[in-house]
Amino acid sequence: MKQALGLFLLLSAGASTTLAQTYPPVEVFKSPTCGCCSKWVEHLRSNGFTVNAHDVSDVNTERKRLGMPERYSSCHTASVGGYVVEGHVPAADIQRLLKEKPKAIGISVPSMPLGSPGMESPRPVSYETLLVGKDERHKVYARH
Ligand code: CU
Ligand code: CU
Repeated sequence: MKQALGLFLLLSAGASTTLAQTYPPVEVFKSPTCGCCSKWVEHLRSNGFTVNAHDVSDVNTERKRLGMPERYSSCHTASVGGYVVEGHVPAADIQRLLKEKPKAIGISVPSMPLGSPGMESPRPVSYETLLVGKDERHKVYARH
């Protein structure tokens, strides 16, 4: 029994290592002139994500199309694996989302908190990643 459990743990550890290369691509919609958006895209790429960045004239339209309520809005919006990812969300939170697969619209770091990925600052503030449910209500998914 103990051996079977060990084997199971070994297999699941192996599975999570290969998962790193098999994240679905992230489709990012951003303004062509937004520097912090590009820095966030770099953050995702350096954490193993394939990112397709789309320059759009109106991020609000894309956010609406994807279904993220406006009150959670930030400077860019994205879709990955059937979820919306809004704003400067750390890559680790997206990886967790794709692993846990909660029933939700997606996750958001509203506004643009200093110190979040792509918003590097000598004066970082604490911020939260919110999980936005299908009913458009949110709960705290992670504290940073
Ligand atoms: Cu930004
Ligand atoms: Cu941005």
